[in-house]
Order: sequence, then structure tokens, then C-alpha cells
Amino acid sequence: MTAGHLIAKLNEALGWELRAINMYAHYAAYIRGIHRLQLEPHFTAEANESMVHSNIVRSAIVKLGGVAVTERNQTPIEHVSSYLDMLAESLKTEIKAAEVYGELMVMIEEAGDAELLDSIEQIYLAEVRSVEELRRLAE
Ligand SMILES: [Fe+2]
Repeated sequence: MTAGHLIAKLNEALGWELRAINMYAHYAAYIRGIHRLQLEPHFTAEANESMVHSNIVRSAIVKLGGVAVTERNQTPIEHVSSYLDMLAESLKTEIKAAEVYGELMVMIEEAGDAELLDSIEQIYLAEVRSVEELRRLAE
């Protein structure tokens, strides 16, 4: 595996994080009704967490001498009204993120970069926790 493959995969993760920032900020703004009480803070926290993740991934790309993407992943962000639809869209996004970070973990293990593995593993575990939490929330 070349550094180019690793940088490309990190950029894939970065694109998903940039998309997640937009998606969660959008749902935080549009959530209505009684669920706003809990889901506005939840979506806002997720948007902030995606920002933190994007910064970590971007820094890793810079460190590897790559060029970080500035555009989000182009998968459409669905404007939905019901909280269940918002949670379903969130779940889809988190499943995708966990998948990309899982692939990244394998590549970084092969590359033998212990420091990078440590920071990406933290993110990977956070995405997996989000998936499990959303599965319960979206029931
Ligand atoms: Fe994330």
C-alpha cells in the first residue's frame, strides 16, 4: 500500500465528516415538537463532534504531506421533517462513517503508523458508539 492510498482514504473520511457537520447542523435547526428538547442538543453535539473529527483527519493528511479535500462528500443531505426520519438519516451516515474508519484502521495497521492508528481508532470507536446509540433511538 502506498501513502497515496492512505491519503485518499483519509480524504474519503474527511468528506464524510464535512457532510456530517452540515447534516447535523441542518437537523438541529429544523427539529420541531417535543423531541426538539432532546434532539436539538443531540444534533448540535454531533455537528461539533464531526468538526473535531474533521480537524483530526485533516491534520493527519497534512502530516502525511497530502492535500486535504475542501468539498464534502456529495451524497445528498435529505431535508426531512419527522424526527424519526432525521434519526434514520443520521444512522445511515454513521454506518457509512464507521465503515470508512474501519477500512482506514486496516490500512493504517498495515502501514504501521502507531500514532495515527491511535487517533483514528478513537474516532472509529466514537462512530461505532453512535451507530449503536442511533439504532436504539430510531426504534
Ligand atoms: Fe465522525
